Amino acid sequence: LSAGLVDTHGRVHRDMRISLTDRCSLRCTYCMPEQGNEWLARTSILTTDEIVEVAETAAALGIRTFRLTGGEPLLRTDIVDVVRRVAAISGPDGPVEVAMTTNGIRLGEVLPDLIAAGLTRLNISIDTIDREKFAKLTRRDRLDDVLEGIAAAAASELTPLKLNAVAMRGVNDDELVELVAFAIEVGAQLRFIEQMPLDSGHTWDRDAMVTREDILAVLSERWALEPVPGRGGAPAEKWRIDGGPHEVGVIASVTAPFCGACDRLRLTADGQFRNCLFSLTEYDVTTALRSMPTDATPSERSAVIAGILQSCVHGKLPGHAINDPSFLQPARGMNAI
Ligand code: GTP
Ligand code: 5AD
Ligand code: SF4
Repeated sequence: LSAGLVDTHGRVHRDMRISLTDRCSLRCTYCMPEQGNEWLARTSILTTDEIVEVAETAAALGIRTFRLTGGEPLLRTDIVDVVRRVAAISGPDGPVEVAMTTNGIRLGEVLPDLIAAGLTRLNISIDTIDREKFAKLTRRDRLDDVLEGIAAAAASELTPLKLNAVAMRGVNDDELVELVAFAIEVGAQLRFIEQMPLDSGHTWDRDAMVTREDILAVLSERWALEPVPGRGGAPAEKWRIDGGPHEVGVIASVTAPFCGACDRLRLTADGQFRNCLFSLTEYDVTTALRSMPTDATPSERSAVIAGILQSCVHGKLPGHAINDPSFLQPARGMNAI
């Protein structure tokens, strides 16, 4: 398993996002319709044993960070167990890192257990700190629960705490400075995200998108921004605010794609490997795991997982095609990837 996960464009993959469920406690308009999506069948969702088995092989092949996502990962009832078991995995370079992206609801309650289980980093989504706007955008009046989660995370030893805000015209584009000020106040790093064509309702509109350039123009009126070098494979470009120490990030997946440095792979909640958010092909590990002979040894099972993962890496395209006229949105929405 030592060959590593290198694609045909020379990119080495060290980061795997594992979606634990496609369900969510919010209904952000840019992500899902009011009634939610057509959820994955419960029987198709990977069990914790299956996730751990896949993660062990991925780590042996060079994955160093697992980011647990959703939907909302904290809706998974065995979330602490998932964190504990994934955090116990070691690869050739030592123990893996386990991070999580969450909407923050229920975080206050479970954070101590997650940290004890080995969670090392947290990103929390918060697109607005205005209660009415939050209720309208997420179709749930739960801003207080999210703020409680952020407060708990900010008071914890997990650093750096990152807050994600998708910038949207007519929704929160009048609140960009306030969001940064809020993040500074809680000691977190805010990252604005350009909205991507990934919603299940296919409502994305390029003209309605708030771009990296728009965001920088607004922030520069308030603060002096100085670029932070050394981005590596990270999706966010960062700027130091007024000489530091605080920083703000922008994830410009549409107007300034970072695909050339991409080091990510994904595992969907129903056990499909994906080599890109936007790929149209998936590599089915569930069927392979569930159809193996009952007397297959752990190393035989691992070899099968590794083969599927290598095919996934091998099939990775140089970049997404959002900006091509021929762009086709993947069938799955972001919540299921
Ligand atoms: P860090 O490791 O902390 O930098 O996490 P992250 O920013 O990669 O993960 P997070 O789950 O917080 O994602 C935040 C945003 O990054 C998402 O909304 C996407 O816009 C963007 N993003 C994450 N992964 C990818 C990817 O593979 N491709 C593209 N184009 N954007 C991505
Ligand atoms: N475009 C950009 N970001 C999105 N997210 C969800 N859907 C989209 C989209 N269409 C964000 C969430 C969360 C992160 C994981 O992805 O708000 O912060
Ligand atoms: Fe849930 Fe995230 Fe989708 Fe919002 S963007 S509905 S928090 S999965």
